[in-house]
Amino acid sequence: MIKAVWIKHASQLVTLANKVPGPRIKDAMNELSIIENGSIWLENGIIQAVGTTEQLETLYKEREIEAEIIDATGHLLTPGLVDPHTHVAFGGSREREFEMRLEGATYMQIMNAGGGIHATTKMTREATEDALVDQTSKRLDSFLAHGVTTIEGKSGYGLDLETELKQLRVMKRLQEEHPVDIVPTFMGAHAVPTEYKGREEEYVDLIINEMLPVVAKEKLAKFNDVFCEVGVFTPEQSERILEAGKSLGLTPKIHADEIEPYEGAELAARVGAISAEHLLKASSTGIQAMAEQGVIACLLPATALYLRETAAKGRVMIDAGVPVAISTDCNPGSSPTTSMPLVMNLACISMRLTPAESLCAATYNAACAIQMEDKVGSLEVGKQADVVLWNVQSYQQLQYLFGVNHVKTVWKKGVKVVG
Ligand code: NIG
Ligand code: FE
Repeated sequence: MIKAVWIKHASQLVTLANKVPGPRIKDAMNELSIIENGSIWLENGIIQAVGTTEQLETLYKEREIEAEIIDATGHLLTPGLVDPHTHVAFGGSREREFEMRLEGATYMQIMNAGGGIHATTKMTREATEDALVDQTSKRLDSFLAHGVTTIEGKSGYGLDLETELKQLRVMKRLQEEHPVDIVPTFMGAHAVPTEYKGREEEYVDLIINEMLPVVAKEKLAKFNDVFCEVGVFTPEQSERILEAGKSLGLTPKIHADEIEPYEGAELAARVGAISAEHLLKASSTGIQAMAEQGVIACLLPATALYLRETAAKGRVMIDAGVPVAISTDCNPGSSPTTSMPLVMNLACISMRLTPAESLCAATYNAACAIQMEDKVGSLEVGKQADVVLWNVQSYQQLQYLFGVNHVKTVWKKGVKVVG
């Protein structure tokens, strides 16, 4: 039987306990509900009690013998980080493109020449399901080592029914085999595959008539995402695909206004997307529309840095009332990283989020972006016991000391998985 875990004396226990349902906006993103000299009791995979060490001593003194005691003196304790946007299940690697971009090629030039997403599609089609499970599992280990206990994962490197299903099945298997929780998203509309060049509408029809119905019937995905971008899918095509998914019970997400302004933020608001991603070039009208509809902006500052682009206007979005989440965008092209701590630092440095907003965006708001906030994203009684102990004293230090992995110990569903 797994013992209970009793963590005591944390210098800061950041609960992010929520007062109102739904994602946090504006000032609420700064309210972390911190307990000093904090303590938490984990049992049966669930958080049983949270409070000051003094309060928990009263509640649990008689059961002390039953628990593994962790002295967290001088350490920060937070919820497991949540990464709400990844392309984690892919074959192969694309380091040559990194060099090409440094030599002057752009992301879209490489993609239009058959590289980029097309290159990974080829490698993913060629890989066996077992090989993909193996490679992806190693990436999940790396996420855990960086304090990430829940991620979203997209298909979109198959671009044919068989391989899209293979990617989704890989994620389903890993959900069973690996401690990290994976929430699956179908993204058949990640690119128009090279064999459909010049027949884009036919590919859109294929997604709507053949891929989405199978994905929905087999319950392989919760969300449906589209890369709405000049030269990829138009806003009209994106809307058709997202509406088709909606009618089958898949909630829309959208890669919007990443490379060029394309009224993607406006589309996200119009179709009732749970989140819009990237948004580097989102218009003021689009930002306003997202605020009005409560669409979560899922911002990816590591991608902007890696493509040497100016990051999204995170500060402006929060001030306008848009709920903001942040993510690695882990993928083999524009953001090959699993480090949410780095993304939190970058959110402060390049988007001017406060350290508190950045932590909220990587935990509670991130959980909202994948509709998992009833289980993860904050340390509250009844939620999953996903907890990270850090080698820093405060969340301010965590955001300030950048480029270093400060993770000391990670518990997933109450079981120690790192440290
Ligand atoms: O979110 N922008 C589109 N898709 C991914 C990149 C995928 C790739 O380059 O393999 C992104 O950045
Ligand atoms: Fe992405």
